[in-house]
Amino acid sequence: MQGAPGRKVAVVGAGAVGSAAAYALTISGLATELLLVDINEAKAEGEAMDLAHAAAFIKPVRIYAGTYEDCRDASIIIFTAGASQKPGESRLDLLHKNYAVLKETLPRILRGGESILLMVSNPVDVLTYAALKITGLPPERVFGSGTVLDSSRFRHSLSRHCGAAPRNIHAYVVGEHGDSEVLLWSIANVAGIGIDRYCELAGIPPVNRREVDRQVRNAGYEIISRKGATYYAVSLAVKRICESIIRDENTVMTVSGLIDGQYGIRDCCLSLPAAVSSKGRGRALELPLSAHEEEALRRSAEILKTAIKEINL
Ligand code: 2OP
Repeated sequence: MQGAPGRKVAVVGAGAVGSAAAYALTISGLATELLLVDINEAKAEGEAMDLAHAAAFIKPVRIYAGTYEDCRDASIIIFTAGASQKPGESRLDLLHKNYAVLKETLPRILRGGESILLMVSNPVDVLTYAALKITGLPPERVFGSGTVLDSSRFRHSLSRHCGAAPRNIHAYVVGEHGDSEVLLWSIANVAGIGIDRYCELAGIPPVNRREVDRQVRNAGYEIISRKGATYYAVSLAVKRICESIIRDENTVMTVSGLIDGQYGIRDCCLSLPAAVSSKGRGRALELPLSAHEEEALRRSAEILKTAIKEINL
């Protein structure tokens, strides 16, 4: 049985992140076909059965487990396979392990075709770059979840301080999805008004930037130290990206993709705001940043380029 064209989504890796992403997609009604693949076939089958049994409560969707090769005609392939961070590990510490998984599985998953490959496994920026090089696909069709989650964490913190809905807050985290990420305070705003001015108008104390920066940057570590992994919020970030692709929304999100000259940065993948549509990731926007932010972004790019050199592409 085939789903309607353009609505097959494949999730590679049925661990905590892959399964939570599949769950979010199941509830969303966005896909007509949802394929789960894992090196542990029984795990993928079990997750697919568990999700499929929600049939009476969700929009029609065929949920099943399959092989890497079954991904080839999917419109979106979400790559979550590999190890996740253990307490004390950084995302970059996962590089060699997860690059090995990527190198082995990608040629089986993709062969020509029109799929969009959405990378989620960490370190997501370096693996997105590796996936681009391995597949040779156009850059708009290979991108990563990047700092979409971190931008949501930033908006969450600001929302709580300002007493305004997260949807009314525009605030981006750019650069590496990791320790060197950059919070763009210079363009963060609530309903079009700069954060400090908003606080003045609302009669609340100014935001403690250092504290918000610490919370956002360390959020992953804080959660992992308590529950061993993070998966709910990232899976909703993945669902939101898929929604923008499937509905051709052009929603601007900080996905990670190839940078070709913005801020003088080239030949690496990192997050900058870009419109996400049915064609994939649009050109990364070169928003006006403060000198300090630009410098921090270039430092983040250098860290990622050093990591890229560690794998022989
Ligand atoms: C996160 O930021 C660990 O990358 C994962 O939640």
